[in-house]
Amino acid sequence: MNILHLKSPAKVNLFLKILGRRPDGYHELASLMQTISLCDTLTFTLSDHDRFTCTDPSLPHDSSNLVIAALDLFRRRSGDLFSIHLHLEKQIPIQAGLGGGSSNAATTLWGLNHLRGHRFSDRELMEMGAELGSDVPFFLSQGTAYCEGRGERVTELPPMPAEDVWIVKPREGLSTPQVYRTLELSKLSPRDPHVSLKKIALGSPEYYNDLEDPALTLEPRLGLIKSDLERSGYSTVLLSGSGTSFFCLGEGGIPLTVEGISTFKSRFINRTAERWYE
Ligand code: C5P
Repeated sequence: MNILHLKSPAKVNLFLKILGRRPDGYHELASLMQTISLCDTLTFTLSDHDRFTCTDPSLPHDSSNLVIAALDLFRRRSGDLFSIHLHLEKQIPIQAGLGGGSSNAATTLWGLNHLRGHRFSDRELMEMGAELGSDVPFFLSQGTAYCEGRGERVTELPPMPAEDVWIVKPREGLSTPQVYRTLELSKLSPRDPHVSLKKIALGSPEYYNDLEDPALTLEPRLGLIKSDLERSGYSTVLLSGSGTSFFCLGEGGIPLTVEGISTFKSRFINRTAERWYE
């Protein structure tokens, strides 16, 4: 097989608790993460020379692009010096807190491993993914996972009950490091993520995100959009990751009064151990 098409899904953080600042500049966190059907597509074609193409011209073509960084890392670790054409069809908005770049990196690692004879286990791929970014290992899980450390310590959980989710992406973008820098640790709620996990298992979930307040401080319009979405009936409207996307659960509508937003109807998805996302 010389050609492979794979979906590369987005994620939402159903809860995200920040536990403290670490000496290495990262933050210790605990988050329940879930993949959703909003996705990019990656096409792998073994070729006689390397090529990267993308439907979004704003994405870089060097190793600052996580797809290229993942390809370089896989070749280094495996010692397998093949050439490949990678084509990325972008749907997941960027600077959205939906993990698009991290998902693309994980999909690249999984796809190359599949094409090149399964040299690495999923756990080994997760370890490689952790070198590329804190969220990359999660995207090598089966879609529902509790993530700790800086996000790279992944515990698989059973799939969440199927649920539709609206993604609302305001035109504003936020940089993840800037949101973390704005976070005031003393103002965080004293929630215990283990209790949050138990509540999810008992079917009475609580959804929260410690990065929401700093993101709303940096971009005050996000707070107005959140209120409008809440007024339109959704039971949960929460920023995903460091934003600027909101995910909305329950029954509601997209308020027509809010300008400058893109919306995506989506649902929770999971994969099996043997197969990638369909
Ligand atoms: O790991 P990744 O490259 O995705 O992280 C991007 C940035 O987000 C880091 O440089 C850091 O500023 C911030 N971050 C953090 N704590 C985490 C994850 C990310 O402070 N647990």
